Amino acid sequence: MARAALRTRCSKSMTKKILIATSNSGKLHDFVGAAKTHGIEIAGIPGFSSLPLVVEDGLTFEANARKKAEAYSRYAHGEIVLADDSGLEVDALGGSPGVHSARYAAPDLHNKEPHQPNANTDDDSNNARLLRELKNVPPEKRTGRFVCVLAAARDGKTLATFRGTAEGIILDAPRGENGFGYDPLFYFPQIQKTFAELSAEEKSHYSHRGAAFRKFLDWYDAHSNR
Ligand code: IMP
Repeated sequence: MARAALRTRCSKSMTKKILIATSNSGKLHDFVGAAKTHGIEIAGIPGFSSLPLVVEDGLTFEANARKKAEAYSRYAHGEIVLADDSGLEVDALGGSPGVHSARYAAPDLHNKEPHQPNANTDDDSNNARLLRELKNVPPEKRTGRFVCVLAAARDGKTLATFRGTAEGIILDAPRGENGFGYDPLFYFPQIQKTFAELSAEEKSHYSHRGAAFRKFLDWYDAHSNR
C-alpha cells in the first residue's frame, strides 16, 4: 500500500474526523449535533475563510453541493470533505426561494449573475420577503420543504451525494428563538413546533440536514476502510 494511502486509512480509522466546507455557523452547529452520537468529530476546513470563494451558479442543490465539495477538497489532501447546499422550497411559489434561499431578499435575485456567497442577504430580510410573497396565501396552501444535499469529495472528485428533506408549513409570523435562516417560519406538523423551537438534538433528528447526514454516515460506515 502506498504511504499516502496508508496514512489516510490510519488517520480515518483512529480519529474519524470529517471536514465540512462551510462558513455558516448555523449549519456547522447542526452537523456537530448530528455527528455527536456517532463518535465522529466534525471540523471546519482549516483556514476556510481565506480560501477562494466558490461561485454557486448550479441550477440544483446537488450541482452546488458537488461544486463546493470538489473545490474545497483540493485544499485537504486525502481527506473526505463534505459540502452541502440547502434551502427552502415553497409550493405556492413554484419552489422558490430554492437554490436562492440564502439571498432571497436581494433585489437582483433574478438577474443572470452567478450566485456569489458574499451576495447573501440576512435572515430577517429573507424571512420578511417570504412573508410578503405569501401574504395572500391561505394556510392550507403554505406547504413546503427544507432540502439538503450533501456531497462527499476527496481530492477534487465527488464520491457520493446524499439528499434529505423535511416537509412543513410556512407560518404567517415567526415563532421560536433557536436555529437560523427560515427556522422561525417553518412549522413542522409532526411535532407541532417550528424548527426554531427545537433543541439541537431535535433538529438533527427531524431536519433535512440530519436526514442527509445519516445517509452519509451509513455510506461512510460502509466505505471508511477502503
Ligand atoms: P446555502 O446552502 O449556503 O446556499 O444556503 C442555504 C440557505 O437556505 C440558508 O442561508 C438559509 O436561508 C436556508 N436554510 C437552509 N437550511 C436551513 C435550515 O436548517 N434552517 C433554516 N434555513 C435554512
